[in-house]
Formats: sequence, C-alpha cells, structure tokens
Amino acid sequence: MYRVGKEEIEAFARAIMSRDFFKINGSGQEVLHFDDEWRQTVGARYSLTMTSGFAALTSALIGMGVGPGDEVIVPAYTYIASALAVTATGAIPVIAEVDETLTLDPKDVEKKLSPYTKVVMPVHIQGFPSDLDALKKLSAKHGFRILEDACQADGGSYHGKYLGTVGDAGAYSFNYFKIITSGEGGALVTDDRQIYERALIYHDAAAVAFFGNQLDGITEPLFGGSEFRVSDLTGAMLREQLKRLPALTSDLRKNRDALAELVCGRGKAVQAPSHDIKGDCGTTLSLRFETAKECRGYQKKCADGGVGSTVPIDTGKHIYTNWTQIMEKRGAMHPAMDPFKMEANKGLNMDYSPDMCPTTLDLLSRTLYIAVNPDWTQNDLLQIASVMNG
Ligand SMILES: Cc1ncc(COP(=O)(O)O)c(C=O)c1O
Repeated sequence: MYRVGKEEIEAFARAIMSRDFFKINGSGQEVLHFDDEWRQTVGARYSLTMTSGFAALTSALIGMGVGPGDEVIVPAYTYIASALAVTATGAIPVIAEVDETLTLDPKDVEKKLSPYTKVVMPVHIQGFPSDLDALKKLSAKHGFRILEDACQADGGSYHGKYLGTVGDAGAYSFNYFKIITSGEGGALVTDDRQIYERALIYHDAAAVAFFGNQLDGITEPLFGGSEFRVSDLTGAMLREQLKRLPALTSDLRKNRDALAELVCGRGKAVQAPSHDIKGDCGTTLSLRFETAKECRGYQKKCADGGVGSTVPIDTGKHIYTNWTQIMEKRGAMHPAMDPFKMEANKGLNMDYSPDMCPTTLDLLSRTLYIAVNPDWTQNDLLQIASVMNG
C-alpha cells in the first residue's frame, strides 16, 4: 500500500450509505464501473474484478480450458500462489529458470516445453517486465497460450502496452501489499471472448446464474465453479485507488531513477538489467553483485546506515525451494482431487528437486532490492545515497 486517504473513506461512505452495495444492485454499481475503468486504463476488451490475484489467475486458467493432463510453465521465482493457481485447476506446474532480470527465461521455457504445455505464465515480479516478445515468438511457434501474472505489476508496461495485456490474459492483485489496493482484491483482463465467458462463469458460479442479466449474450454452457465475487465496497475503494495510479507510478519511477543515478556504477553496485526499465513499475531498485558475499557486505553497510534492503533469496515462499505443497506434491485437499496423483497427469513433468533451477538461486543470492518510496524528497534521496556510497 502506498497512498490512501479521505477520498477512499468518502468512497466507502458513499457505498455504505447507498445501503445497496451488492455488486449487481442498481444504485452504485461500483464494481461494474471499476471493471470498465480498469479495462479502459490497461486497454483490454474485458475485465473482471475478483476477490484476489489467485482468483484471477485460476479463473484465467479455467478460461483457457486448462485442467488435468496439462502442464503450465511457471518461473522458479514467483509467489507460491502462481503455482497453486495451476494445481487448483488440476494441471501440473512445470518450474523454469529466471533470466538476469529475475523474470521467466524464454530459453529455459523452450527447453521445458512438451506436448502437454498448454500455458506459459510469465510473472512480472516486483513490477519487472518479463521478456514478452521472446515468449510471444515461442507461443506463435509452439501454440501455447500466455497468462501474465501481473499481480505485483499494477500499472506497469512493456514497450508501451500495459503489463497484463500483452499475452492472452492477465491477472492483477489488489491485496494490501500491492501498488493499488482494496485490502484484498484482484482482476482478470483479456481480449478473448471465450476466456472471458468461462472466467465469468467460473469466478461467480452461483450468483452469475441467479442475479440480474449477467448471462445475456453468454454462449458458453454453465459449469460448476467458485464464488470470487466482490462487493461494491471493494469496487468503490478501487475506483479511488485507480485515480492515484498514474501519479504513483510516475513518482515511483522518478525516485527509482534518481536513486539509481546516485548509486549505480559506484563501488560494486550495478543496476540489474531490465526488459523495459521505462515500463518497470519503479517499486524496486534492483542491484546486482558479482558474488553473494559482496551482496551481503553491501546489505550490511545499508543496514548499519539505517537503509532497509532485501536479498530476494530471503523471501521465503517466493522461491520454488520453499513451495512445500508443490515440492512435496500435495496439490489438493483430497487425494482423489490431487493433480499429482491423477491418472490424467501420469508422465507429466513433476520432477521437482531443490537444485533444479541453480541459475535462479544464484541470481537471487547476489541481488539486492531497495524498496522505493514515491514520496522521497531530494534530501531523503541524498541521505540514502550517502549511506549506500559510504
Ligand atoms: C506474483 C504473485 N502472484 C499471485 C499473487 C496472488 O495474489 P493474491 O494475494 O491477491 O491472491 C501474488 C500475491 O502476493 C503475487 O505476488
């Protein structure tokens, strides 16, 4: 969470005082307005607001027809929810290396493609854009679909297009830790009518078939699904947060660039490469070192001077080695529903081991993140830089 204030309080009050804040009711229709505003902002045909990024990822996969018998390639460095969204559909997550930018490495994706690969899921971790051009080329050649996990990348872009809209579908999170937030929340975007219709049915299986005219024009047959609907309280807050997004990303990027200018290339700090630094969300200045030891030394210097930093190898469930449920192959609450035990998944690539992605582990051990504050002043920047350059 970066910025929140009286505008959100007033929006909440507006929704509460309407006494009519169920999504489909007539008065506020805050969620439906947000769907439309988010869709127009990022440039997609359809947007569905949901309870979480996980809900959006799962609904997108279901929209793409993913299920038992399918493999979905995910990066070795992403929050565990990306991989759990795959097992939630009955499919198998195949884990691939990240490249120097810490996003999915298309070269390793190519090595891990199989006749079962249905979807590849680049994750724009920390708002770093993935190598979408290379992945799109692979997808055109091999016929898989691309689901962008943009859960950490609200408002980021890749060569002028919003992250989440370059592949076949994109998922965003609006949980408390994200760039814009409603405490919890998420959204799916796509231009594909079939993905949209199936995701619409899946994400709100009971109410979509009962309230209002939500199924008008839908040709996909109804099927059983989940309930990931949000209320107009969420919609009202997100509409205010969205108004803040342009200034927020601009301030984050400005401060990231200003700090990079002050510290990179001095001593051992080098800025990590990016597939599009202009489109990168700016939440993080990512520094790369030759060795893990140098990285830890730099981190200590920062800590001694009161500057917080994170070595991503320390970020727990963001690293495949700590995905207990996946590594130990317990993919569901009941053995009969566990993708790792399903007959349809026999022979699929689920050979997980802690040392299967050594490049990822190496890069994560010698990268240092400085979290950027959009409200840093010039004085703050100079003070932080003097610690880092000390
Ligand atoms: C990369 C990534 N994917 C998916 C998710 C899931 O989002 P949510 O917590 O909204 O379900 C997160 C959330 O932290 C995330 O960081």
